[in-house]
Amino acid sequence: MKASTIIEEIKARQVLNSRGNPTIEVDVYTIDGFGRASAPSGASTGRAEAVPFPKGGVKEAIKKVEESIAPEIIGLYADNQEEIDAVLHEIDGTENFQNIGGNTAYAVSFAVADAAADSYGLSLYQYLGGSMNSSLPYPLGNVIGGGKHASGKATDIQEFLALPVGAESFSAAVEANATLHRRLKSILGELDATFTGGKGDEGAWAPNISNDEALEAMSKASREVTEELGFECRIGLDVAASSLWDPEKEVYVYTRDGIERDTGEQIEYILSLIEKYDLVYVEDPLHEDDFEGFKELTSKSHGCLICGDDLFVTNVNRLQRGISIHAGNAIIIKMNQIGTLTDTWRTARLAQENGYVPVVSHRSGETEASHIAHLAVALGAPVIKTGVVGGERIAKLNELIRIEEELGERAHMACLKI
Ligand code: PGA
Ligand code: ZN
Repeated sequence: MKASTIIEEIKARQVLNSRGNPTIEVDVYTIDGFGRASAPSGASTGRAEAVPFPKGGVKEAIKKVEESIAPEIIGLYADNQEEIDAVLHEIDGTENFQNIGGNTAYAVSFAVADAAADSYGLSLYQYLGGSMNSSLPYPLGNVIGGGKHASGKATDIQEFLALPVGAESFSAAVEANATLHRRLKSILGELDATFTGGKGDEGAWAPNISNDEALEAMSKASREVTEELGFECRIGLDVAASSLWDPEKEVYVYTRDGIERDTGEQIEYILSLIEKYDLVYVEDPLHEDDFEGFKELTSKSHGCLICGDDLFVTNVNRLQRGISIHAGNAIIIKMNQIGTLTDTWRTARLAQENGYVPVVSHRSGETEASHIAHLAVALGAPVIKTGVVGGERIAKLNELIRIEEELGERAHMACLKI
């Protein structure tokens, strides 16, 4: 008998994210299935992102689900995702989900997809991507961090990342990142006498060291792990440059290092780091409105992903603008930057059609939900950025280990062209 995906009931509740802050979780019941999703939150958010919650916060978001969204969505088919997401836009009525909140849209949209998948007895990645999808993303993980994800004297650059590009399986890739994270603990202890083993929001070590020292430490550890495991482990950065940019003085302020750089100097600095440390990935090297700077850096760098997070905010129009001038060659895909699954899917597909690498990403404030692991496989995304340690990060990694097992012999690593 054919399964029914007709939505019968929707419930919303307040739960906590990994920072201990409130967020929204939504349950969706169809005639034949059940789905649940909870929304993450960022700390270094882009100005052009969807507004996370309505005025009144999570409590108000729950009210919106109960009073405005549920009555419109009950009775619709959960597998008609586009229609559901269009209803969310219609109820909200603004460009950036000011009225219902991007996180509310996220939780409803993903819970609906989850319920549709369950109604058909499929895993979410199979339901979204089809049964021929069998590629696993490379895990990009935050190993040392500072910026807005830590306090005190941590690094100015927000994230020092690991990407095990030579791994032949997802499980091996995850092991490489975890080994590198463990290895760094002792290296950092030698560099910083005050190092307590403290970590930032995403489980990355947060020592009191300079950016250059962090890069040296990463470079040493990745060389050691490459040798030990026998496949190539490379490193990258999320500069989160909007957090460093002083719009009045028009300089990037590196407080910890006591240095200021104008746009030209910033581009030269990043190029020198790419060369010196053989960086495979640099995210947000320039502030969120500097499409021209991204263009210049992309044309001058080779063999490195130049990724836009705050620049593109998973927004199809901003990505289109980037594509038209060749600004960047990779894009962070964070569904709650834009709100719905349909919007997210369109942005990721536009990226792929134009040779941009989609990097499906967590937020610094996460829940234990693992939907983004399924989204990455469904899209055939070559990279997932979701941390290395911490329960809420491990939830995504472990889910991908299970998916790899479920795919069995069909499982293979995605094609990552750099
Ligand atoms: P977030 O940032 O704090 O906005 O989640 C993470 C990132 O910049 O990639
Ligand atoms: Zn970022």
